[in-house]
Amino acid sequence: MEKKELLYEGKAKKVFTTEDPDVLIVSYKDDATAFDGQKKGTIVGKGAINNRMTNHIFKLFEAEGVPTHLIEELNDRETAVKKVEIVPLEVIIRNFSAGSFAKKLGMEEGIKLLSPTLEFSYKNDDLHDPFINDYYALALGLATKEEITTISEYAFKVNAVMQKYFAGLGIELIDFKIEFGRYHGQIILADEVSPDTCRLWDKETHEKLDKDRFRRDLGNVEDAYQEVFKRLGIK
Ligand code: TMP
Ligand code: ASP
Repeated sequence: MEKKELLYEGKAKKVFTTEDPDVLIVSYKDDATAFDGQKKGTIVGKGAINNRMTNHIFKLFEAEGVPTHLIEELNDRETAVKKVEIVPLEVIIRNFSAGSFAKKLGMEEGIKLLSPTLEFSYKNDDLHDPFINDYYALALGLATKEEITTISEYAFKVNAVMQKYFAGLGIELIDFKIEFGRYHGQIILADEVSPDTCRLWDKETHEKLDKDRFRRDLGNVEDAYQEVFKRLGIK
């Protein structure tokens, strides 16, 4: 599988076309941004960790009946994926209070929620990814009712699989963001699952092992990514 042309460069990944119109190659970068790209930096080794972690976890999802865009890991940083049309929704699940949820509701971080929440943001950088609900998504034509039902079911399934898996690694899954795409009419999971897109806390010490270390200048950013990767025990 060979890269042809650069199709798109995002904040954390580059996407290349291949000779197969149904296949893209994603290439994960070490670049990190936060707050709509206002804060920029590098997390050395992040690209390889996020690539390999995403693929490892996407295989768990596949085994549990959640289809993903994964085709094949090509090397440390690059993976062949199915070319999807991204549904412009960031799908966020929370198990504990943190981040924007804690702020909005005047809560401390780390309070266990009575049930997991699901929320949507409209993927639109100019608008800073505003919070919307399923009626907005329908009204704006971002997804159909059937797609929203499927997306919600898959998102809760992904949460259950990850909560259980991370618990076995001594990690609490606080919250995460995922994205879906359309592939020949079917909804499948796309994008990534990594310390960039999940809040992961050590179960015992509650140490943050995710991108909040970068967002909040907590230090030891690389160490946190390495620690998560080490616990995955890949290879
Ligand atoms: P939030 O608490 O800032 O709304 O973030 C919720 C989750 O979504 C958290 O795990 C971090 C993740 N996230 C992204 O993956 N990309 C983003 O642009 C933002 C704002 C959050
Ligand atoms: N990735 C987002 C940005 O660059 C924000 C974040 O993850 O905090 O703005």
